[in-house]
Amino acid sequence: MSQVSILGTGSCLPERVVPNSYFESIVETSDEWIVARTGIQERRMVLPGQAMSDLATPAAARALEMAGVAASELDLIVVGTSTADMLSPSCACIVQHNLGAKGAVAFDVNAACPGFIFGLSVAMRFLADGTYGRALVVGGEIVSQRIDYQDRATCVLFGDGAGAVVLGPRENPSQGQILSTHLHSDGDLWELLYVPGGGSRIPPSHEMVDKRLGVVKMQGQEVFKHAVRALSEAALEALEHNGLTSGQVDCFIPHQANLRIMEAVAKRLDIPLDKVMKTVHKYGNTSAATIPVALDEAVREGRVKRGDLVLCNSFGAGFTWGSALFRF
Ligand code: ACO
Repeated sequence: MSQVSILGTGSCLPERVVPNSYFESIVETSDEWIVARTGIQERRMVLPGQAMSDLATPAAARALEMAGVAASELDLIVVGTSTADMLSPSCACIVQHNLGAKGAVAFDVNAACPGFIFGLSVAMRFLADGTYGRALVVGGEIVSQRIDYQDRATCVLFGDGAGAVVLGPRENPSQGQILSTHLHSDGDLWELLYVPGGGSRIPPSHEMVDKRLGVVKMQGQEVFKHAVRALSEAALEALEHNGLTSGQVDCFIPHQANLRIMEAVAKRLDIPLDKVMKTVHKYGNTSAATIPVALDEAVREGRVKRGDLVLCNSFGAGFTWGSALFRF
């Protein structure tokens, strides 16, 4: 098996900024409560008419530019999302069309929040066994269209965004490498976090909309407890698998769902907070986009440099969770 490097990163956030004060006007909440319980101050949301590929495509283009790879050189496009432009075809095929990446194989991975880590894991294996040479992995979500704006416990949490990486074979020792990815699922717990309507069980209908079934339903406290445990275990699994310790991590990029979850996980891992990358205060929980967006910002701000050891983890609906450890 060959080693695989991250050649470039990119991201794209919608321009529309939605501060906590917006929710004060539609549900019984306050900026103080949202900041204290989640760490979120504002989030970005798309405008009507904007679709997942409208964020995924610029994020991908930026990652290709940093990597110095032309879209025509891509062999594989994987988009981790559960909010694709349409039920069919995949968002990855629309991104392929937008980029002009003719000849690439394109498909989506629906693994909720860890969709990017699941997509990274799939793409990495295709490159490691030599099937493909250059891959684009996107994590993106437009959660603002799946939110119940009457449910104060969920509507304040989410935002929209997309991030991307370009992968290629590690060609010299100065390049980093993906050390390992670790994926998990527990379908027994699906009812703790789900969107009931819009699929084949409750197809789209006026009744589905009237009963507010096409939106996120969540038992927040239960999700919180499972998330802290699973995120910590997945991160430790990655470190132990590679014979490394948390003290060797240069940058920890946890799933950006809630600052309290992130801090609890960092504490369990004994990683100081100044090594924890945070975007949740300005973007909220962008689901599959949180890791690649935070990674791109860390790289462009110089917080993550070539050779740095980066640890990522994520947790979401399914339940699904996982981790990735790499030298950038
Ligand atoms: N404003 C004001 N009060 C609120 C709000 C709000 N926006 N939301 C809930 N409350 C109230 C509740 O109604 C409850 O009131 P009550 O005591 O009168 O019944 C009180 O606050 C406490 O509710 P809890 O659910 O116990 O609040 P908690 O501190 O657990 O915070 C939260 C809720 C933020 C949802 C938290 O449980 C959480 O973040 N869970 C993880 C959810 C998550 O991130 N899911 C995303 C997908 S999975 C993932 O990405 C990890």
